[in-house]
Amino acid sequence: MPTINEILQNMDYGPAPESTKEAQAWLEQHGRSFGLFIDNAWTASADTFASTNPADGKELAQVTQATGADVDRAVAAARRAQPGWVALGGHGRARVLYALARLLQKHARLFAVIETLDNGKTIRETRDADLPLASRHFYHHAGWAQLQSEEFADYRAVGVVGQIVPWNFPLLMLAWKIAPALAAGNTVVFKPAEYTPLTALLFAEICQQAGVPAGVVNIVTGDGRVGEAIVNHPGIDKLAFTGSTEVGRLIRKATAGSGKKLSLELGGKSPFIVFEDADLDAAVEGLVDSIWFNQGQVCCAGSRLLVQESIEKRFIAKVKARMETLRVGSPLDKSMDVGALVDPVQQQRIHGLVESARAEGCEVWQPSCAMPDEGSWYLPTLILGASTSAAVAQAEIFGPVLVAMSFRTPAEAVQLANNTVYGLAACVWSESISLALDVAPQIKAGVVWINTANQFDAACGFGGYRESGYGREGGKEGMYEYLAPLAEDARPAAPVAIEKGAVKASAPDSPFAIDRTAKMYIGGKQARPDGAYSRAIAGANGAFLADVGEGSRKDIRNAVEAAHKATGWTRATAHNRAQVLYYIAENLAIRADEFAARLAAMTGSDDPQREVQASIERLFYYAAWADKYDGLAHQPPMHGVTVALNEPVGVIGIVCPNEAPLLGFISLVAPAIALGNRVVAVPSEAFPLSAIDLYQVLDTSDLPGGVLNIVTGSADELARTLATHGDIDAVWRHDGSAEGCAEVERLSSETLKRTWVGGARGRDWFDAKQACGRTVLQHASQVKNVWIPYGV
Ligand code: NAI
Repeated sequence: MPTINEILQNMDYGPAPESTKEAQAWLEQHGRSFGLFIDNAWTASADTFASTNPADGKELAQVTQATGADVDRAVAAARRAQPGWVALGGHGRARVLYALARLLQKHARLFAVIETLDNGKTIRETRDADLPLASRHFYHHAGWAQLQSEEFADYRAVGVVGQIVPWNFPLLMLAWKIAPALAAGNTVVFKPAEYTPLTALLFAEICQQAGVPAGVVNIVTGDGRVGEAIVNHPGIDKLAFTGSTEVGRLIRKATAGSGKKLSLELGGKSPFIVFEDADLDAAVEGLVDSIWFNQGQVCCAGSRLLVQESIEKRFIAKVKARMETLRVGSPLDKSMDVGALVDPVQQQRIHGLVESARAEGCEVWQPSCAMPDEGSWYLPTLILGASTSAAVAQAEIFGPVLVAMSFRTPAEAVQLANNTVYGLAACVWSESISLALDVAPQIKAGVVWINTANQFDAACGFGGYRESGYGREGGKEGMYEYLAPLAEDARPAAPVAIEKGAVKASAPDSPFAIDRTAKMYIGGKQARPDGAYSRAIAGANGAFLADVGEGSRKDIRNAVEAAHKATGWTRATAHNRAQVLYYIAENLAIRADEFAARLAAMTGSDDPQREVQASIERLFYYAAWADKYDGLAHQPPMHGVTVALNEPVGVIGIVCPNEAPLLGFISLVAPAIALGNRVVAVPSEAFPLSAIDLYQVLDTSDLPGGVLNIVTGSADELARTLATHGDIDAVWRHDGSAEGCAEVERLSSETLKRTWVGGARGRDWFDAKQACGRTVLQHASQVKNVWIPYGV
C-alpha cells in the first residue's frame, strides 16, 4: 500500500496557465515600443532595444536607450518639481503615495503578469510576493510622509535622487526606492534594469493616474551607460543603487568627493544555518524559499547551507527528496515552483561556476525533473564537498545553486557563516531560542531570520554589512537615507583657520617644553613610532612645543591589530561603557587647568576652559547615550516580532579636525566607543598634543587597552592607510580637507567600508546640533533586523 507521501508525489499537476490577454493588450496599446517618462510625458521612442521573455526568448517590446541629454532633461524636470513637492506638505504627499498604493493593488494582476513575462519569475511569486510587498511599501511610506514633520522635524529632503535597480525584483525594487524618496520630499530619476524595464513603464502610467505632479517621478530606460550618466550627473544629490558589488564599487569611486549621499545594496553569500535541534522539515521548506525563490536570483539568497554534522546525512536526504518535488517550467503556470533565468548570460555564468566545482571534485546533485526545451533555465542544484575557499563557496552565484557544508559547534557555525566578504542576510534554525538568539548577533549581516527565511516588510530595514553595501531600505532607518539634517546646512563654509608661526626654539619657561618625542598610544600602552621619525609641533606663538611621532603604515597596522583584539569592549554592557566614559570625563575635569593651558599654548585660544568644559560635557553626553541608543521592535504583518538592533560598526578609523583639537577629537571618538566600536584615531595634525595628553587620563579611567588607539602624524598619509586597510570597517575624516575626504571615499571602494567625511566645510564643534545627536550615533552603528516569528 503506497504511503500518503508517495500518493502525493505521484499525483501529476495539470497545466494552470495565467492569462496574458490584458498584458498583451497593454503592450499593443503602446505599439510595443516605449519612450522615456520625463516630466509627466512620454518621449518618442528612439534608439531602441528589445525586452524579451526569458521563458521563450520572444520579444515583448522595444524600449528606448536614453541618452545623456535625456538624463539631463530628467534631472532638470526633477529639480524644477522638487520645491513644489516639498511645499505640498507631508499630508499632500501622503495622499499621493496612498493613491499609488491603491492603484498598484487595483492593477496587481496586470503588474504581476507583465513582471513574469519580462523577468521569467513565476506568477506565484509575482502575484503573492512582489506585488503585495510593493503596494505595502507605498502604504507604509504614505504614513512616513504624514508623520514627517513630527518624526523628522530636524531634517529636510535631500533633493533630486538618482535610483538604479537590477532585474531580479524590478517592481519591488522600484517601490523600495521610490516610496521613501517621495515620502521624504525628494524627486527621482529612476532607471530600471535593461532586462526588465516594463513594470517601471507601467508604473509611470500609474503615476499619471495617481496625480503625481510633473517631474516628481522620471523614468529613463537603458543599460549601464544610462546608469553612469545618472551617477555622474552634477544635478543629483543622492544615489540609491541595488545591484552587483562590482558596479557598487564603480559608483563609490565615481561619486567620491562629490558630496552625493550614497546607499548601496549589493551582493551576498548568505548562510543558512541548521542546528541539530531544528525542526528539520520546517528548515527544508525554509531552504526552498531561501535558495529556490526567484531561481536563486536574490541578493539575500541562503546560498550556503551550514548544517550540524550530527544531522547532516538526514538533512541532506530530506533536501534531496524535496528538490525532487520542485517543478521547473512555464513561469505563467500557477503551479510552477521554479521559473526561467532572466537571460542566457546568467545561465552561462551559473553553468561556469557549477562546472568549476565539479572539476574540483565536488558532488553536483540535481533532481530528475524535466526542463522546457526553449528559453533560459537551470535546474535546482546542490553542491556537496566544496572547500570553504572554493569559488562556489565564496562567489555570488545568483542562481538556483546551493552549496552545503557541515559544522560541529555553534562557534564553528558562526566562523563559517562569517567567512565571506559579504554580510547581507542569514538564517538560523534551532528550536532553542537561547542558542538562536546567541548566534544571531554574532553573524555579520544586516538581516537575520530565525526559523524563517526571506521575509521582507516595509516596516523593517533591509541592507548589508561589509561588501554587501551600506544604508537601509524600509522602516524608520530607511527614511534617514532620503533625509539630510538641517544642522548640516548651518555648517560654516570653511574650517576656522588657525594661524601658526614657524617653529622657533622652545621658550625656556614653557611648562610643556619636553625633550623627548611624545609616543603613540596603541593597545593601551605608549609606543614609539615604528619609523623612529618625529615632527616638531609649534605653539600659537611659533615657539617649539614638542616633537610628536610621525605615524606610519606600520603604526596603523599595529593599532588596528590592537583594536581587533579588544573585542571585550563590544561585548561589554552599555552600562559598563557609560561608566568608563563618565570616568574619563571625571579624570579630564581633575586636570582641566592643565588641558586648558595646553590648548592656549597650541592654538592661542583666549578661552581654552570653554573647550575643556565642552569636552567634559560631550563625554557625559555620549555616556548618557551609551545605554539609551536602543533599537526598535518592528511589527511586520507576521505572528512575531522583528527586532532592529543598533550594532557597532566594528573598528573605525577617525581623522580628527584641527578646529577645537580637544573637543573635535572627543566629539568623534566618544560616540564611537560609547556604542561599542574600537577606534584608531589620528588627532589634529596641527594640534595633536591635547590628544596625547589624554593618554594618562585614559590610563586612569579603566578604558581597556586597544579600544582607543592614537596615531599621530600626517593626516593625508594616515587617512590613506586607514581607507585601504582591509580590517577597518569605517573611516571618518573631518579635518576640512576636500581632496583628503574625496580620497578616503575613493579608496574606501576597494573593501566598501563605510565613510563619514566632512569635506571642505567647517563644523562648529561647540554647537550641539552640528556636532552631536542622532546623526553621529547613526554613523557609529549599523542596524541589524532579527526576525523572530513565534508560535510556529
Ligand atoms: P549590474 O550591477 O551590472 O546591474 C544593476 C543595475 O546597474 C542595472 O540597472 C544596470 O544597468 C546598472 N549599471 C550597470 N553598470 C553601471 C554603471 N557603471 N553605473 C551605473 N549603473 C550601472 O548587475 P547585472 O549585470 O545585471 O548582474 C551581474 C551580476 O551581478 C549577477 O550575476 C549577480 O551576481 C549580481 N547582481 C546582484 C544583485 C543583487 O541584488 N545583489 C542584483 C543584480 C545582479
